[in-house]
Amino acid sequence: MSGDDLNNPRAYPEELEEQIEHRGRQLLLRPIRAQDTERHRLFLARVSPRDLYTRFFAGVHEVPEPEVEHFTHIDYDREMAFVAVAADGAEQGEILGVARACMLPGERAAEFAVLVRSDLKRQGLGALLMRKLIRYCRARGIAELRGNVLMENAAMLALAHSLGFRMRTIELNVGEIALELRTDPAAA
Ligand SMILES: CC(C)(COP(=O)(O)OP(=O)(O)OC[C@H]1O[C@@H](n2cnc3c(N)ncnc32)[C@H](O)[C@@H]1OP(=O)(O)O)[C@@H](O)C(=O)NCCC(=O)NCCS
Repeated sequence: MSGDDLNNPRAYPEELEEQIEHRGRQLLLRPIRAQDTERHRLFLARVSPRDLYTRFFAGVHEVPEPEVEHFTHIDYDREMAFVAVAADGAEQGEILGVARACMLPGERAAEFAVLVRSDLKRQGLGALLMRKLIRYCRARGIAELRGNVLMENAAMLALAHSLGFRMRTIELNVGEIALELRTDPAAA
């Protein structure tokens, strides 16, 4: 058993890797793994303070190292994070975006979050990652995907709307959005 296997109770689900062409570039969509810590740190360094704020709801200029480790050392039974990795060109191997879902204990529901490198926004990466996450959650029998979004976050609200999410509640400046996942695989 390797060091990574010891850290991850369930082995890396390699079968979820997907090599795709997206707008003229090769991408690998795959689960995040323990060896991604440095890559993930470099990715976060290229996310603007404003985008970190809309993702974490707090003014952070740098995500602390232990948290970055926490993001990459995941228990695949309870959480999933997909990264979009450049598979060609000068940025080969770099993380361009990440979408994650944490299973909510006692419910057939999961909470999601998504983040795209700031200079790559509006190139379809957020939608690509969210669709991959939705397919995965649906295949795992999760009935609902939900998330919290700042009401000022027009980009996420528009992306969520385009994916079929509905606004459930709004408290102060935060809205809870939710997507019901039908088990019909044809609906993916
Ligand atoms: C929200 C976020 C993930 C969107 O990712 P993205 O890769 O830029 O989005 P996409 O290019 O896939 O956009 C898909 C669709 O969403 C909508 N959309 C995305 N950004 C938009 C914006 N700024 N204004 C209006 N609509 C927008 C559009 O309908 C878009 O389709 P189109 O470009 O064909 O019109 C990205 O802006 C981000 O990382 N923001 C910071 C972190 C964050 O806020 N995360 C959400 C909290 S969980």
